[in-house]
Amino acid sequence: MLIRQAPEIRSSEITDPGLYFRRREFLRGLAAAGVTASLPAMAGLPGSASAATPALERKLDFRSPGPFATDETWTDRDDATRYNNFYELGTDKGDPKRNAHRLVTEPWKVTIDGEVAKPGTIDLEDLIRPHPLEERIYRLRCVEAWSMVIPWVGFPLGDLLKRFQPTSRAKYVAFESILDPEHLPGQRRNVLDWPYVEGLRIDEAMHELTILAVGMYGAVLPNQNGAPLRLVVPWKYGFKSIKSIVRIRLLETQPPTSWNISAPREYGFYSNVNPAVSHPRWSQKRERRIGEWRKRPTLPFNGYADRVASLYAGMDLNKSF
Ligand code: MTE
Repeated sequence: MLIRQAPEIRSSEITDPGLYFRRREFLRGLAAAGVTASLPAMAGLPGSASAATPALERKLDFRSPGPFATDETWTDRDDATRYNNFYELGTDKGDPKRNAHRLVTEPWKVTIDGEVAKPGTIDLEDLIRPHPLEERIYRLRCVEAWSMVIPWVGFPLGDLLKRFQPTSRAKYVAFESILDPEHLPGQRRNVLDWPYVEGLRIDEAMHELTILAVGMYGAVLPNQNGAPLRLVVPWKYGFKSIKSIVRIRLLETQPPTSWNISAPREYGFYSNVNPAVSHPRWSQKRERRIGEWRKRPTLPFNGYADRVASLYAGMDLNKSF
């Protein structure tokens, strides 16, 4: 049974995603009509004078629930939005929330290029608009051995890639996060090579479980969780879920990834959740669900083995970790 813990949302509080993601068009229209002075009336529209409305109060409309829900208890929303990894905003778990306002998400464009028939740079609104939003309740398992259960709002990455028509040479997908050292305090330090980059094999990227998220807990993604667009790949360690994406490139060869560049012995390209392969400095056999004290066993592929194990048939997962 699906346990729904989100507070009841009145339909009057919901921002229609069509409107939400057409917000700049909408605002341009208002500006042309000379009514921008009344912008505070449009509570919840990012990019308006009321953009200060916290993301989690800007509700999203979505087809609910999407496939692949779980009946596990959702992680407390406050925990999921104040205990984060987002090195662009600082290396402590509390830094991303503290520095969230430094991430500038408006305007936002995403470039899709490389091995595609129709490359382009496209406004976020236009990128998202054709895709019905769904709620997906996924476990997220961090390589640091903590885990969460989060109701994401997003759409399959594969549906987006198909729109840009991958060529037959597209074997991998490379992702790149925002590069903005002027605003992002972490990017003024050498903790990682910037921008943050990640990669998937094309079959992983096209898999039905892999989504691009634009929201969580029924509302717009808070900056510290990777606004306005992040990847979620639930059978891989959390660091594969790259945040604040500005470029998606299809490639013939395997792309570099931030954590593999930083510590190749510790973080491989695949990074599938695997209790049988320890991190060189600690075991991956168990995990602590945020909000619980007793540790629980970690499941192969984070519990999604029935859907994804076949992608790795014949591979030595000790070597391809
Ligand atoms: N994406 C970017 N751009 N920068 C980062 O530092 N950290 C990763 C991943 N995506 C990171 C990132 C790591 S290590 C984890 S565990 C998850 O984001 C954490 O996601 P959460 O903070 O939403 O739980």
